[in-house]
Amino acid sequence: MAKRKVLKYGDERLRKVAKPVTDFDEDLFELLDDMRDTMYANNGMGLAATQVGVLKRVVIMDLGGSFYELINPEIVSSEGEQEEEEGCLSVPNFSDIVKRPAKLTVKAKDRYGYSIQISGEKYFARCASHEIDHLNGILYVDKSKHNEKYFNKYGKK
Ligand code: NI
Repeated sequence: MAKRKVLKYGDERLRKVAKPVTDFDEDLFELLDDMRDTMYANNGMGLAATQVGVLKRVVIMDLGGSFYELINPEIVSSEGEQEEEEGCLSVPNFSDIVKRPAKLTVKAKDRYGYSIQISGEKYFARCASHEIDHLNGILYVDKSKHNEKYFNKYGKK
């Protein structure tokens, strides 16, 4: 296991659409384990493989002790709205309010390729929405409330 470098805003790889995982093998396990080390080392609550420069549809989250690994996650349904403050390890020195679904149901595979489906509110809905956006090249500043402040300072990249 090892820590990997987290790509920062402006790196064009953050804007790519990640590809589905087809092989549930040792390489995937290593990626997942490295992502977990990287997330914890940076005190993050979620991380997408895109953020470590691997353009595969892999997401991990730690929401108050509940740890999730979501491979090829897809949103099955979403309900309602919530507006809370967010940050991102790839967007340093900024946090802002983002509108997200209040409740989200996600289907995915686990690391062994078994199908899973998870429904959650609050942190789960927000974090899963944020991380799945990463897999599609979307950063939270694209949709946050005061993003012009960020774009004025760092440019729109
Ligand atoms: Ni993020």
